[in-house]
Amino acid sequence: MSLVVVSNRITRGNANEPITGGLAAALLPIVEKSGAIWVGSSGRVRDGVQKEPFAEVEALGAGALAMLDLPAAHYGGYYEGFANSALWPALHSRADLIRVSQGDYLSYREVNAFMARALLRFRKPDTTFWIQDYHFLALGAELRDLGVNQPIGFFLHTPWAPRDVIEGVPHHRELVEAMLAYDLIGFQTEDDCENFSNYLSSTLDLMVEDGVVMSQHGTTRIAVFPIGIDVEKFTRQAAKAVSHPDVSRLRRSLNGEKLAIGVDRLDYSKGLVNRIKAFDRMWTAHPSLARTVSLLQIATPSRGAIEAYGNLQNELAKLVSDVNGLHGEVDWTPIRYLNKGFSQTVLAGFYRTAQVGVVTPLHDGMNLVAKEYVAAQNPDDPGVLVLSKFAGAANELDTALLVNPHDIDCMARTIATALSMPLLERRMRWEAMMAKLERRSIQQWFSSFVEALQQARSEGEALTQPV
Ligand code: F6P
Repeated sequence: MSLVVVSNRITRGNANEPITGGLAAALLPIVEKSGAIWVGSSGRVRDGVQKEPFAEVEALGAGALAMLDLPAAHYGGYYEGFANSALWPALHSRADLIRVSQGDYLSYREVNAFMARALLRFRKPDTTFWIQDYHFLALGAELRDLGVNQPIGFFLHTPWAPRDVIEGVPHHRELVEAMLAYDLIGFQTEDDCENFSNYLSSTLDLMVEDGVVMSQHGTTRIAVFPIGIDVEKFTRQAAKAVSHPDVSRLRRSLNGEKLAIGVDRLDYSKGLVNRIKAFDRMWTAHPSLARTVSLLQIATPSRGAIEAYGNLQNELAKLVSDVNGLHGEVDWTPIRYLNKGFSQTVLAGFYRTAQVGVVTPLHDGMNLVAKEYVAAQNPDDPGVLVLSKFAGAANELDTALLVNPHDIDCMARTIATALSMPLLERRMRWEAMMAKLERRSIQQWFSSFVEALQQARSEGEALTQPV
């Protein structure tokens, strides 16, 4: 079998290249090892590519990377428009932030159709297609329209919201009906899968039985595949990274002070405002903690052209400056706030340096930062993870300190608890989390999905064969 993996964002994974978003970091090792072709956006747009898709192809480990220039006329409507101003807010239960026009939807469909045409170049008789994320909900249907009859799977990295929120997305019916062209649809958590199944039965009036739904396209299996990380690689990387110049500089700057760390894309789903407020409240309630702990918050900008993101960037910059102005001293900055990305190696070293990892999204499909923070710890002296119960990762990492990211006082108390947790308790919690990470690695995620996809395809074919 040859495998073609498709996602909007892709990465070459160069040692010093900053990695934005969990998806690219997660797919990189499996493409490198499995020999798959990974197709995605080059980040550039072009006029006149609609008819002649242009892709630059290069080797990536045992696999290959195909970077596609997307059509200039449709890119904005597709990426900033429908994908990130309609689908993203809805999937994260922020129907209030949905802003979309009919033109955006048409551009989204155009780019999905364009990608389908571009994929034909990589199709062989034994090819399996695996499509990633909400940018390409309709790609499976477009491939089928072009006559592709090979297995096509889809995995959603974000949450799938309850049905009333999804119904706030213009053309939701058309899109979900198009999704049923996939043989297998994978979700991060049972809740997401259940929400999708409720949508199918209540909104589309379809019957879902034992995780299988029948539609005009044939059968589609829906199931849960929680994504993991390459635990061994990350652990090794973190231990080695302590000698990296950026990591050494961070360590030296601490002067015996403890460090809490947050690493996120600058996104309203990540709960950054509440997190900063929780630190503010902690320093107000426990003035003795001033100078003994600071927060390193890395907030990597993405989707900056969208109003909600621009507003958030301004709000955060002001909030951080207010908190630093209030609690800071001539020789102490409470919050080190950085709007740039770092390579995986450097991040691994930062995680190992920090005594507390704060991962407090309001909603998150999985959140691989939580998993990476755990994997990066020194087994002899592990740090503590403070984790939102609304991140998919909380299902597995249930010995983290779980918090409600809307309850700022409780988060402030929990961060203080994390800072003073005795070594024995830290070790017990960390060991339990590591055992779960090892059981559900990225390799296991990859092979279980691909195997389930082959099976779903053959079961589907058997069911729809005339007897
Ligand atoms: O995890 C969700 C996701 O959209 C991924 O698809 C992507 O890797 C990440 O967030 C980054 O988003 P963007 O490419 O829009 O910056």
